[in-house]
Amino acid sequence: MPMAPASPTPGSNLKTLREEAADCRACPLWKNATQTVFGEGPQQASLMLVGEQPGEREDLAGRPFVGPAGQMLDRALEQVGIDRKKVYVTNAVKHFKFVRRGKIRLHQKPNTSEIRACRQWYERELGSVRPDLVVAMGATAAQSVFGTITPINKNRGRLIDLDDGTRVLVTVHPSYLLRLPDAVAKAREYQRFVDDLGIAADLIRKTASSRRPRSRPECPTRGVAMHNHSRRYSPQGFDISLHNL
Ligand code: URA
Repeated sequence: MPMAPASPTPGSNLKTLREEAADCRACPLWKNATQTVFGEGPQQASLMLVGEQPGEREDLAGRPFVGPAGQMLDRALEQVGIDRKKVYVTNAVKHFKFVRRGKIRLHQKPNTSEIRACRQWYERELGSVRPDLVVAMGATAAQSVFGTITPINKNRGRLIDLDDGTRVLVTVHPSYLLRLPDAVAKAREYQRFVDDLGIAADLIRKTASSRRPRSRPECPTRGVAMHNHSRRYSPQGFDISLHNL
């Protein structure tokens, strides 16, 4: 079922949002997690990367993508010439969801109600940063960004414009690459991931010279129009603009 829109808070800066999110109780995940892991990166970032949820390392550090998946992401970003310090990196769900197995905390995939509860933060981050491009990494991120379950393979590697002016690129999650047991498949899939990020890098470079989205008027509904997109989604594809670079 498509998610309901959240209330917009256009103009809140990231520091304010981060402070508010620290006390978020919108779903039960806060109870077992160490802390809220909010997004990080420059207020003016032109690129926003969205992952699934913090893992063990991120939960302890309070920062997104600092563990093994983050290292793989950093490597791929470097390969396409993107400086991570200039990117806003966040997650669809901001608390670590896990089950205990002895001393180990095993990652668990967030469910739709947790994604929905946390989506207000993604929307507010989006409204605050107003990036030129959002990269949704994996199914959970895509579900949050599009507001509905969104197949990765069918939509990856091309630019998708949402009604509110958000431009999105879908790709796989770096953890998926880490889990692939076969070295050949791993190398191939890693290269595809790098290729997807290369599309993001090209777009960012182009918009940096033309400053397309930064010069457009602020969209008051930015980040809250997902219900419209959700309604327009069908298993056949999106009834929205699809761009191939
Ligand atoms: N996986 C994610 O989706 N996000 C992180 O921050 C770390 C691992």
